[in-house]
Amino acid sequence: MHLITLIIYAIFFCGSNVELRRFDKHFRFYVQNVASRFHANWRKSFLEKNPFVRNRFKLTKSRTNYNSSDFVYPMILTVGSCLVHRNLKVAQSRLNSSLLYVDILNMNYNELPSDWASENRATARIACRYVLQGLRRKRLFSQNYIDEISEIIHIQWMKRNGEYASKDLMVPFRNLTEIEKDKDRKAVLIACITFNEHFLYHRFNSTPVHFFGYIIE
Ligand SMILES: *[C@@H]1O[C@H](CO)[C@@H](O)[C@H](O)[C@H]1NC(C)=O
Ligand SMILES: *[C@@H]1O[C@H](CO)[C@@H](O)[C@H](O)[C@H]1NC(C)=O
Ligand SMILES: *[C@@H]1O[C@H](CO)[C@@H](O)[C@H](O)[C@H]1NC(C)=O
Repeated sequence: MHLITLIIYAIFFCGSNVELRRFDKHFRFYVQNVASRFHANWRKSFLEKNPFVRNRFKLTKSRTNYNSSDFVYPMILTVGSCLVHRNLKVAQSRLNSSLLYVDILNMNYNELPSDWASENRATARIACRYVLQGLRRKRLFSQNYIDEISEIIHIQWMKRNGEYASKDLMVPFRNLTEIEKDKDRKAVLIACITFNEHFLYHRFNSTPVHFFGYIIE
């Protein structure tokens, strides 16, 4: 190979590597924002439905690094008798100190341990990927396209949750009730709105998302 060709190759590959890393960085930022908004929405609607509920402690299986001497408040929670952390968001069972519970209602997305963040992140990744793909391919963001992405989100959700999911959710997207379909559609809409609100079209060198014949409530 000629030296000059080699140099051109080197420039090309290094260049595209930098591009790729920049893309990855922006993509992570995008996914993080969308997942975090899913969690914020869940908290809001949970509190609307259960205005008197103050916390919702859930078992976490992820590794956490809480200092055991910071579990100072003895309390009876829905999950049993616990010692609660100074931050009031983490509890340790008094019967078995390896059982840790996190208050997902009072944590924002960044505070969640990875097992509790992973569902939101998985859905956000799919939604973000297809929003970007749609923009690149100049797709119309119509009801049809929103439903196409929602269907993929649903299929991937079934793959992850098939073992635990209720039977009436383990059906093709078109067989879901409108209420269930709307949950997936909402995830896509949040990805679109976040894209526009954070001006991500500058970072991804694209246009904003323009909805086509789609009414957002
Ligand atoms: C845990 O907290 C105690 C008291 O706040 C402190 O003295 C100790 O150094 C901490 N241990 C670690 C590993 O951070
Ligand atoms: C405490 O919980 C862990 C994790 O679930 C379990 O593996 C362990 O057997 C439990 N220990 C006791 C003494 O119950
Ligand atoms: C889904 O709905 C179609 C009709 O639209 C029906 O033929 C099919 O049996 C349904 N599948 C499931 C798994 O419910």
